Amino acid sequence: MDDACPGIDPDDLPDGLVVADETGRVICFNAAAARITAIPGAEALGRPLEQALPLEDLKGRRWWQLTDPYGGLATRVGQPERNLLLPGNREVLVSARYVREAPTGPVRRLVICLRGTEARRRTERSHAELIATVAHELRSPLTSVKGFTATLLAKWERFTDDQKRLMLETVDADANRVTRLIAELLDISRIDSGRLEVRRQPVDIAAAVGRHVQAHTAGGQSPDRFFVRIHRRLPTLWADPDKIDQVLGNLLENAVRHGEGTVTIEVAPAISKSDEKGTTVTVSDEGPGIPEESMGRVFTRFWRGSKRGGTGLGLYIVKGIVEAHGGTITVGRGPGGGAEFRFTLPVGAPAFLT
Ligand SMILES: Nc1ncnc2c1ncn2[C@@H]1O[C@H](COP(=O)(O)OP(=O)(O)O)[C@@H](O)[C@H]1O
Ligand SMILES: [Mg+2]
Repeated sequence: MDDACPGIDPDDLPDGLVVADETGRVICFNAAAARITAIPGAEALGRPLEQALPLEDLKGRRWWQLTDPYGGLATRVGQPERNLLLPGNREVLVSARYVREAPTGPVRRLVICLRGTEARRRTERSHAELIATVAHELRSPLTSVKGFTATLLAKWERFTDDQKRLMLETVDADANRVTRLIAELLDISRIDSGRLEVRRQPVDIAAAVGRHVQAHTAGGQSPDRFFVRIHRRLPTLWADPDKIDQVLGNLLENAVRHGEGTVTIEVAPAISKSDEKGTTVTVSDEGPGIPEESMGRVFTRFWRGSKRGGTGLGLYIVKGIVEAHGGTITVGRGPGGGAEFRFTLPVGAPAFLT
């Protein structure tokens, strides 16, 4: 408001701003502060802080008396952001800065920032929703594990070997599902917190595609179901081989499970307007594809279009891995009418090689 930012009107600030002078009287109360506190600026201006902004902590203690900015420790420089209450239990996030002329001199100004709690509420709510979804996802396989083991233990003699085998197979599959879900959740927490590590080394992505196709045909899929096209002149690719395997594995599994007909996998040099080189992999099938209106949602957590098993986490992880490599992924409709997923990875060579 002084010379540093000439012409800045406190009312332009998105957050609430309250300033008190060396006597503790309010000399600035901007429009956002009035909105957040529901206290009109004209009412607050000129009054002592504890009357103008009667904050209390969550235990009902009067905040200005408790923190005593003008009389308290002379080394204190402010207060970190806290959730405080105004009369009527209105919640506000408050942080304060004690402006002193000399490092331990008297407080000349008290600058207070106010923010509403809606944004934080929203993230809290989405965390709560995530926990509820995870709990639900874990409960259904565990319910079946518990049910079948309890039944087997209680009535072991009454079942034939075939019946017992069938139950144990279900238990086995459900236990695998829980294990996989937990592995995926750990990946997600790494992606969301930016802790996903990419250990780059040269990757032969054509060979990786070949291995994945082979795994599917060894697992009983007809070799006719796959059509692989590898362009001859591919740029080098430095990437994390395990994570690329995870991406290919997920996309192929989806194409086989959710799609139909021939699954086409194409590996080609990236075509882009800029000079940046890279590798593009396209996986398409001839199944029902992703409905137009859902294309924006396929990469979100727990989104599932069909009921053919799955946790709905695969594509979220795929996108997280591709982006951690500096790449991009898109979804569209393939030439055969099915879903088409296309991801592009930059060369990613270490700096000393470029
Ligand atoms: N190739 C595909 N064809 C049709 N639908 C697909 C395809 N790939 C993914 N989907 C849809 O996207 C949803 C999310 O995929 P994903 O995140 O891998 O979860 P999951 O495979 O565990 O269901 C799937 O449930 C499915 O409805
Ligand atoms: Mg999947």
